[in-house]
Amino acid sequence: MSNNAIERAKEHFGRLLEAQLARVERMKTDEGWIDYAALQPILIGVCGGDGIGPNISREAQRVLEHLLRPEIQGRNVAFRTIEGLTIENRAKAGKAIPDDVLAELKECPVILKGPTTTPRAGDPWPNLESANVAMRRELDLFANMRPVRVPDQDIDWTFFRENTEGAYVLGSEGINVTEDLAIDFTAVTTQGSERIISLAFDYAARNAIDRVTVVTKANVIKTTDGKFLDAARRIATDYPEIKWDDWYIDIMTAKLVDPKRRTEFRVVVLPNLYGDILTDEAAEFQGGVGTAGSANIGKRYAMFEAIHGSAPRMVQEGRAEYADPSSMIRAGAMLLNHIGFADRGRRLEMALDICGNLERRLVVTGRANGAKGSEFAGYIMETLADERLEERWRGHQPAPA
Ligand code: IPM
Ligand code: MG
Repeated sequence: MSNNAIERAKEHFGRLLEAQLARVERMKTDEGWIDYAALQPILIGVCGGDGIGPNISREAQRVLEHLLRPEIQGRNVAFRTIEGLTIENRAKAGKAIPDDVLAELKECPVILKGPTTTPRAGDPWPNLESANVAMRRELDLFANMRPVRVPDQDIDWTFFRENTEGAYVLGSEGINVTEDLAIDFTAVTTQGSERIISLAFDYAARNAIDRVTVVTKANVIKTTDGKFLDAARRIATDYPEIKWDDWYIDIMTAKLVDPKRRTEFRVVVLPNLYGDILTDEAAEFQGGVGTAGSANIGKRYAMFEAIHGSAPRMVQEGRAEYADPSSMIRAGAMLLNHIGFADRGRRLEMALDICGNLERRLVVTGRANGAKGSEFAGYIMETLADERLEERWRGHQPAPA
């Protein structure tokens, strides 16, 4: 019995190795970055997702359409609605992303995506892989960029979470070797580590940030995290003007709550699972995961989303229209930055800071005692129209030291 089990496990492992080595070869021959300016139009696919997703995506699309009106009229930018990325459809197709939906997604170099329900064992749904994880893999969206800013506390962090490797890439490929033994796999590659770490250093260099922090648990997870850290050591030598430091995830988690130390961090780059965890913690300083957006960036595709889930309970309790669209609108600001409208992206970020943090004339609570998502989006658009937006934003910044 146990010999059979071992043989079965070895075969399984063999198949995983083949697939991962093939992925390495693909990364080696990866073509260059897409040029958005050459696209006519830049097609933005919008998938609402599950739960509160359709509500908050609608508000984010409304704000983007408002900001991109001239380009939409000039046919330089177009929006396309992609239906079908719902848990019902995914369950019916028995796939994390049904084939027809994936084909449509692949026609859109830019995607705005609402949260999708991730089934887990014991749910009424089949235990499918997460649609996020599948999309990140299928479109090779290797960099998950998650900014967190709390201007009045001097917090300005940009996390670069590796998005296609680590504990996630084989997260649905673990094996129950026997009834008593379960094994999961984690995979890190040279190419995968170098491309995310380079992106983080590049971002720091372009934004005149002189510090990059690398987070692993390489003292314990020696092989894979060790490889990630080694890649950081190599890449750092290309950026002599940037100081870099390495932290273990446990103490890093602690230091984020240390008010004396946390403001020193600026750009943080880390493997997938640590990035998942640390960015939820980080977002809490800004007002919770409901306020944080995330950009999933690859060379050919980019997908922008909230960092939180689909909040099915809010829908069951009839509160979907009170869901906070800030996270999706923030993802929209990142979308604007990414496709070449950085000025408008910057204005939208300032409007979000003003409305969500600094002035808060309308507050979304997630319940009927707060503003509706559509009202909050209206407040953002009014704020955007203010010629004195920047002064209003600056008026709330901490005085320079
Ligand atoms: C995130 C989410 C996803 C993740 C879930 C929904 C699979 O938590 O985007 O951070 O773990 O990556
Ligand atoms: Mg997460």
